Amino acid sequence: MHGMGGNEAYLDRARQLTIEQKAALCLGGDIWHTASVPEHGIGPITLSDGPHGLRRQAEGGDNIGIGGSLPATCFPTACALASSWNPELAREIGDALGVEARAQDVAVVLGPGVNIKRSPLCGRNFEYLSEDPYLAGRLGAALVRGIQAHGVGTSMKHFAANNQETDRMRVSAEVDERTLREIYLPAFEHIVTAATPWTVMCAYNKINGTYASEHHWLLTELLRDEWGFDGLVMSDWGAVHDRVASVAAGLDLEMPPDLGHSDKALVEAVQEGRLDEGLLDLAAARVLQLVDRAAARIPAEVDVDAHHALARRAAAECIVLLRNEGGALPLAGRGTVAVLGELARTPRYQGAGSSQVNPTRVDVALDALTAALPGATVRFAPGYPLDDPTAAPDQELIAEAVRVARDADVVVACIGLPAVAESEGYDRTHMDLPPAQLALLDALAVEAPGVPVVAVLFNGSAVRTSSWDDRTAAVVECWLGGQAGGSAVADVLTGAVNPSGKLAETIPLTLADCSASLNFPGEDGRVRYGEGVFVGYRGYDASERAVAYPFGHGLSYTTFDYDGLSVTRTGSVDAGDLAVTVSCRVRNTGDRAGREIVQLYLGDPQASVARPPRELKGFGSLTLEPGAEGQVEFTLGPREFAFWSARDGRWLVEAGEFTVQVGASSRDIRLTESVTIEASPPDRPLTGMSTLEEWLADPAGERALRAAIGTNADGTPAGILSNPQMQRMLGNFPVSTLAAFAEFGLSHEIVDRLVAERA
Ligand code: BGC
Repeated sequence: MHGMGGNEAYLDRARQLTIEQKAALCLGGDIWHTASVPEHGIGPITLSDGPHGLRRQAEGGDNIGIGGSLPATCFPTACALASSWNPELAREIGDALGVEARAQDVAVVLGPGVNIKRSPLCGRNFEYLSEDPYLAGRLGAALVRGIQAHGVGTSMKHFAANNQETDRMRVSAEVDERTLREIYLPAFEHIVTAATPWTVMCAYNKINGTYASEHHWLLTELLRDEWGFDGLVMSDWGAVHDRVASVAAGLDLEMPPDLGHSDKALVEAVQEGRLDEGLLDLAAARVLQLVDRAAARIPAEVDVDAHHALARRAAAECIVLLRNEGGALPLAGRGTVAVLGELARTPRYQGAGSSQVNPTRVDVALDALTAALPGATVRFAPGYPLDDPTAAPDQELIAEAVRVARDADVVVACIGLPAVAESEGYDRTHMDLPPAQLALLDALAVEAPGVPVVAVLFNGSAVRTSSWDDRTAAVVECWLGGQAGGSAVADVLTGAVNPSGKLAETIPLTLADCSASLNFPGEDGRVRYGEGVFVGYRGYDASERAVAYPFGHGLSYTTFDYDGLSVTRTGSVDAGDLAVTVSCRVRNTGDRAGREIVQLYLGDPQASVARPPRELKGFGSLTLEPGAEGQVEFTLGPREFAFWSARDGRWLVEAGEFTVQVGASSRDIRLTESVTIEASPPDRPLTGMSTLEEWLADPAGERALRAAIGTNADGTPAGILSNPQMQRMLGNFPVSTLAAFAEFGLSHEIVDRLVAERA
């Protein structure tokens, strides 16, 4: 039986309850609370979204309410936060969320969301961190640590392979185990093993035909037995279809409760012997454990101003300077600044759906810029209508914007996605900006050609930039930066903050370049993850596609030089103590202080399976004064070198030369070195169905085979081994097939003997 992480006391307590009480506990009491069992002194605890700010529904409110939650600080959404590549910052935000949860009597915060961005079209990408599992895992773990340090739980979600919104309640993600293990699961795995989240939320979708909520391998064998998770698994809201099957699979808590249905089903299943009561005990015990954990929490006061200040600092650190031609930014000494675009006045700073926060206040970019540029004249024109992303260009708004631009020294064009363009619940169908905004950019290029345009983007997932960015002087990606995003824009544009964010997701030239695009969002209830492990930059790199802005890219107002790469190996794979230490120096070669995020990628060009040219295996950052130099160091263990071998059913490090690539982005590798890793080949059984090549590749197998086939009178190899060309041509024939050809020197008796000797 899958235990309680050694805490049998909860099981004993659960066993004292009636079947009905246990069943009740395994369902929520209502949409945001666990059930209570007053006879046993078990009270309810409160669960609340969400990942970047609380969405605590007022008691007695509408409850489902996507609006109307208690005011809370809206921190940068995950898509923004990930661009900081800063686990310390994520931890600080987690810390603030923990304080707000205590203040609002929230026991478990429903986040972070760490699903991988498989396609830029996923409507919920703004709630997820990255296309890269290493980065998502490190940041997710930091959020969990920050929140849980307050005695408040987290719910890592949505477990697993919830990478689209289309048909999300039913669709089956068809994904092979290697791809799951290398791409879609490692962020979850890292968070479980490094940060011990109190709870995990299962996804709505199916994985290879089985609902996540009923997936025994996922919820029990992998999560608990392999990764050692000892907390509670809850359903996403409405993810349970068969309560009995889900308890058997390891789903402890159904949310919201399907009262009168799911509880009845559980009781009957136990009474009729269809569900082992021990499994119900276990699920109930985990609810008891969660309720107990939450009891240690103490109330707190929120310093609303301090949290807003943190939200602002964070949002500025999340901004990515994509392009900056001729030092267009920072804005300095500009007499007249034309701020164009409705988004400058009507901020978009978070996404729609269950993560929507009712902010304590909202900073507006136009106001913040005006205040931050006291010596300049700031003029505004909305330029386009914001509400309808399909609306035709508004020629009057465009003409007015062009007039304002013509009189200016620089244009700050605030553009991006309207709220309805991306949301929980549905996916986008294209990556383009709305036509009304593209028309504004066209008009500026044609009718105000001499005025440099700084494009400032607000969007929750990558938008296509390649059709217009060459006509801009600078492009600034702000993502959805939370309630202080407007001030953060001013901080970065004026240079009060030197940008340091780097892309946590690739911006492709076109959607068609994305490896997932041929299989998204699937059809007939299934979506085939046909691109395998080649997700995000792994795909663009492997297919050698140009991209608009690569994963890891982000400019600064200063420049950095890299040198002194050193790679040292100690230990070995076979002994289980392989450690590769990588270090390099980075120097600030510009004239202002800045922060550089240094990225370490590994490549395994000699692998026996198809592997991406490079995969992120480490990152670090340095804040350097002009002229100053610092050192970054990374340590890699066996797992960093391994791939998931489907053949061996385990992580496998193959011997060979790996490339260690250190750079400023995935496509700006500054230093490369190779490191030779030694490892014994996996012990793979040789059978009659093993090919000639496989027998010859195995030293003992080769010896036995050669001895069995024997030699000609002159001592040269006989049979199939006598003719190198034939040997190569038939190298992929199983030896038992070759046995049928008399002239090859094998027979079924010989093959049977060889196989028996191997056993
Ligand atoms: C979302 C979850 C969320 C839950 C509760 C679901 O629709 O997928 O992310 O935590 O609702 O609001």
